[in-house]
Amino acid sequence: MNVLVIGRGGREHSIAMKLAESRLIDKLFVAPGNVGMEKHATCVPIEETETTKLIDFAKEADISITIVGPENPLLTGIANQFQEAGLRIFAPTQEAALIEGSKTFAKELMRKYDIPTARYDSFTDPVAAKEYVVQQGAPIVIKADGLAAGKGVVVANTTEEAFQAIDDMLVSKTFSDAGSKVVVEEFLAGDEFSLMAFVDGERVFPMIPARDHKRAFNHDEGPNTGGMGAYAPVPDVTNEMIDYATKEILQKATAGLVTEGRSFTGILYAGLIMTEAGPKVIEFNARFGDPETQVVLPLMKNDLLQVVVDILDGNDPELEWEQRACLGVVLASEGYPGSYKKGVPLPKIGGSSYVVYAGVTPSAFGLTSNGGRVLLVGSKGDSLDEAGQLVYESLPSNTELEGFFYRTDIGKMKEGAHL
Ligand code: AMP
Ligand code: GLY
Repeated sequence: MNVLVIGRGGREHSIAMKLAESRLIDKLFVAPGNVGMEKHATCVPIEETETTKLIDFAKEADISITIVGPENPLLTGIANQFQEAGLRIFAPTQEAALIEGSKTFAKELMRKYDIPTARYDSFTDPVAAKEYVVQQGAPIVIKADGLAAGKGVVVANTTEEAFQAIDDMLVSKTFSDAGSKVVVEEFLAGDEFSLMAFVDGERVFPMIPARDHKRAFNHDEGPNTGGMGAYAPVPDVTNEMIDYATKEILQKATAGLVTEGRSFTGILYAGLIMTEAGPKVIEFNARFGDPETQVVLPLMKNDLLQVVVDILDGNDPELEWEQRACLGVVLASEGYPGSYKKGVPLPKIGGSSYVVYAGVTPSAFGLTSNGGRVLLVGSKGDSLDEAGQLVYESLPSNTELEGFFYRTDIGKMKEGAHL
């Protein structure tokens, strides 16, 4: 089969690396891809949301299956348009992807189908939103309704901070249309983890759990980012919790989407918090998580393309996982998630780790940075500690790095606890 992957980041590099092992693939293409993927695939210079061009290419190159990485094309209906053109695509329709595209839609779905999540209300009027904040009290969480590249969430410790966030989103329109509606929700205390699953309609096949570190600096301090490192599986997430989350969260959500006429096919991602009352949903995504994918796929024993074919054909993919740990640390540009320089030459990564490319571009001086998150350096090990040790051995020290930084505590602390 010829296969097309859509996207250009670390997640898509990881998907391409995994697909490159498949015995079912003749030719692997990525659009637009990045320089790291050229070892495994042919990069095609078409943007993720240039759907008509992607469809023309898929027909020309005789693509059997297209796999979509990022959320933007999902929300503009890439799956609908590929299907209308008679092309097979492993991705949710625009209607199903709304579970990620609108926080209000996701919250209403959870309320209707009794899925455990934080109490909430949604608002377009800042005065009403502030009244609700006063009624509920701080800490409280303010979220822009639409897509905001992981930046539309404010955990407010005081009423004043909450008011500020409401004004930023509803009055100053910091997130433009994505913030014309806000969800105000209960603050949930607990450790976080992510659970992704292969889904087709009501059939749900969970992967192993992973934990992403979203804050920029050690001890989970500093601003939220797209993710500074991750590991899988998560020692403090028991099989019982995974079974509960699969049944009470993933299966209820997918069954709910079917009932609503929005049947979901693709990867459903639940961002969860372990509260005293059990796991509760922070967010749903309609795609593979980034950087979770970069540490989950390396532990999957199955042929990824076979899994996708099985899901689309209605068969059980019989997922199998290595009984090992995998950990990845993100090398970011100095200044990220704020402003940062581009075009900085990449440092040398040694050791036995694998390197996943995100914001990297070739230049006359060799490979240079062109994004906030530049590389993910990952390793497998017999334990989380071993995997972490191998990764950190491969990285130059933060003081040696010029123009880049990374967290030194990925996998070394329990979320929230300063070990
Ligand atoms: P999100 O972009 O929805 O993943 O949210 C970003 C981060 O905000 C999450 O990883 C959590 O750490 C935090 N967060 C979101 N919602 C809540 C909540 N209801 N209670 C506590 N923390 C939250
Ligand atoms: N790791 C969080 C996300 O992919 O949205």
